Amino acid sequence: MSVTALLGCLYGDEGKAKIVDYLSSDMDVIVRFQGGSNAGHTIHFNKKKFVLHLIPCGIFHPGKICVLSSGVVIDPFQLESEMEALREQSVNFEGRFFIDERAAIVLPIHKILDEKNENLNENKKIGTTKRGIGPCYADNVSRIAIRIHDLKSKDILKNKLEHIYRFHDLRDSIDFKEIDNQVLKLYDFGQKYKHYFINFPYVIQKYMNDNKKILFEGAQGSLLDIYFGTYPYVTSSHTISGGIASAVGFSPKRIDQIIGIFKSYFTRVGEGPFPTELNDKIGKKIQKQGNEFGSTTGRPRRCGWFDAVTARYSAMINGVDTAVITLLDVLSGFDTIKICVAYDANGTIYREFPADSAVLYNYSPVYLEMPGWKEDISLCKHWHELPKNAQKYVDMIEELINIPVKIISVGPSREQTITR
Ligand code: IMP
Ligand code: MG
Repeated sequence: MSVTALLGCLYGDEGKAKIVDYLSSDMDVIVRFQGGSNAGHTIHFNKKKFVLHLIPCGIFHPGKICVLSSGVVIDPFQLESEMEALREQSVNFEGRFFIDERAAIVLPIHKILDEKNENLNENKKIGTTKRGIGPCYADNVSRIAIRIHDLKSKDILKNKLEHIYRFHDLRDSIDFKEIDNQVLKLYDFGQKYKHYFINFPYVIQKYMNDNKKILFEGAQGSLLDIYFGTYPYVTSSHTISGGIASAVGFSPKRIDQIIGIFKSYFTRVGEGPFPTELNDKIGKKIQKQGNEFGSTTGRPRRCGWFDAVTARYSAMINGVDTAVITLLDVLSGFDTIKICVAYDANGTIYREFPADSAVLYNYSPVYLEMPGWKEDISLCKHWHELPKNAQKYVDMIEELINIPVKIISVGPSREQTITR
């Protein structure tokens, strides 16, 4: 199969980066299609830990082409510091890293607005990463954004930048010198990297026609999708498979397989409903064993049991063909493991994920309980080496989400991956 989409099916941080890295050796082209530097992809390379926010994780594989498509919002200075860090590790990406000219640019004003919007209502914070993501996407759909192709002209940049400040009623808060300063920085960035900028729909068409192996790498999880996630506690882009074609520029008929990543338990960072959240010793234990702290903001992630209602919804809206279960090793050492199979609201049972996510606050999980396992499984290399109860747990998830589980991850390194 030559065109693969790899998506985090929960609230992000499903361990996508490791699986992208694992699959990348088999690919020719790796494409990020949404999000921006709100993502934090942790990868272990040369015995060092790396966190990439924008550049696809495939970059660590020599010779692979990596692209940021039009659906990604680009913070030029974050990108530059990431490129610098890669060069320091002698990762050479000249001639194999590209950006679609249509991508919108995250500006300093977007970060200011992100912060400001969050402070408008103390009780209704989204808990964003404050990377300016929402305001940048909002400017894009308001048709005023600065896009990569604008970087070629100081005049265009100045006009557009002034317009953006006026649009947000902030023209008086910034002086001419500062506008000129931002224009110059953007222009210099454009001049320095103009050989990276491409008209990607034509290029990807050619890759597809040449049967190149292409991997679309999701950033935020499906339940943070702007339409189908727990609105308004979502990110501002389409994170689900349906968003890929429109964020890249090709026919949706050309995606051959969709791989969904599910973590063996749930986490969420930022605000929003989370029916299986554990505010107790068990939640703390998962957080500690899974090192569940945000790689972009350092915030502790909220932890809870696997919610099969949510996972099944996610598998459905994405059309997942095969599933990956990650971080199974984190669940070692529990007497009992629970899986949510339905929601109970005052005696009424619900088996569907609701459109109005606010009702989730009133749902209590109906749990199925399974015996845990004590063994450390992080060195298991084959399915048959896993303790019986760990196998049963994976089989149960497979049955509940009704998708075959083909890969199981039991640790951060490439070797800690079980296929079946
Ligand atoms: P934003 O994407 O910064 O606007 O944040 C919106 C919501 O998405 C917040 O709850 C963030 O914590 C969450 N979010 C954004 N990016 C990620 C990610 O890469 N992993 C997990 N949560 C994320
Ligand atoms: Mg992350």
